[in-house]
Amino acid sequence: MGIYGDQYTRSTGPRYFGFVTGGTTPAALAGDWLVSVLDQNVATERHSIAAYVEAQTLNYVADLLRLPSAEFHGILTTGATAANLVGLAAAREWCGEQGGMSVSQQGLCSAPAIAVFCAAPHSSIIKDLGLLGIGQRNFKAVACLTDREVFDLSALERELAACEAPGRIVIASAGTVNSGDFDDLVSLSQLCRRYNAWLHVDAAFGAFARCSDRYGHLVEGLELADSITADAHKWLNVPYDCGIAFTRHVALHERAFSADAPYVPMEGQLPAFMNRGVEQSRRYRALPLWMTLKAYGKSGYRSLIESHCDYVKAIAQWIVDSSSYTLLCDIRLNVLVFRHEPQDSSYGTRQELNRQLIRRLNESGEMFITPTTYRGEFALRLSISNWMTRSEDVDRVINAFRTAAS
Ligand SMILES: Cc1ncc(COP(=O)(O)O)c(C=O)c1O
Repeated sequence: MGIYGDQYTRSTGPRYFGFVTGGTTPAALAGDWLVSVLDQNVATERHSIAAYVEAQTLNYVADLLRLPSAEFHGILTTGATAANLVGLAAAREWCGEQGGMSVSQQGLCSAPAIAVFCAAPHSSIIKDLGLLGIGQRNFKAVACLTDREVFDLSALERELAACEAPGRIVIASAGTVNSGDFDDLVSLSQLCRRYNAWLHVDAAFGAFARCSDRYGHLVEGLELADSITADAHKWLNVPYDCGIAFTRHVALHERAFSADAPYVPMEGQLPAFMNRGVEQSRRYRALPLWMTLKAYGKSGYRSLIESHCDYVKAIAQWIVDSSSYTLLCDIRLNVLVFRHEPQDSSYGTRQELNRQLIRRLNESGEMFITPTTYRGEFALRLSISNWMTRSEDVDRVINAFRTAAS
């Protein structure tokens, strides 16, 4: 068994800072219990109010993200991996249409060439490209700006100008998981329009910066995307599993996922959610999200997000002022990458001491953080997205860092 493999992770607690992991608000938890009690199948609107709740929840999320709900149509998925799959399946369908065919109907063998452009894609995107038959390795890795995880727009423009494939998909990030970096979505959408490419934005956690006037500028232009991924089980603090997929091309989206059967009546006022995602039978995952959005509202989520970003900045400032640690990336939102800087140590020793330090920190019970590789070197990574985290937790983190490095 691994080092933590014989116990549960306190991932719902205030000092769990691994990956980008949300906790569970009380309202969401109550909703989740009800979901199992009610056990609705949200395939269509037939026989249940649950589909109405999902439709309304999607409107609430669009409103929270300042997206025009009349233009964006969506579905709740199992997570961001599935939401990326939904967005990219719609994109693939659009690519087929550029060659006058339907990929969902006729298959990839008769599809026109599809070119995919990525800068710093999340691993779930790579997985989805494999699942969609495009191929995990079949994307153009466009250069990033120096020391950033975002598209070098000039490099992307050169690639798009030289591209002969009729189907083109640009995959952008609004919040890279490694360092919380944001693509310039306004410029990307202009390039996509000029070169007739579909713009998919993986905004799994970064989308929620739009709740705040202080951070919304990072995700300016999200409303210009063709498809968008967000993850409610991250910063909205609902229990697993709950992702969100939006596209502005509902007909293409539904064509990619529809397989009608005579025994499933489709008439009605609402979308048949089973025709917008992978599953036919679907969990009532809208209810916890609906309840938490109703309970805390836009202002509740705005203050949650802003306080998390303030806490990350406070820790980053302590690191900058400390002689034992180095801050490795600019702080944009809620992600912090850093390393311990032992005096007079070689590269190899430094890596080993950082490995030991993260083990000590996590074993202390004071916090949980996860390692990463940043600019080729072992580094430590912390992100805050739990509703229970308070400024006292920040003080405990700083104390633990101080003790661990002494
Ligand atoms: C940017 C980004 N995209 C996609 C994912 C995958 O999300 P999930 O684990 O919900 O499928 C993550 C998870 O950390 C992420 O940060």
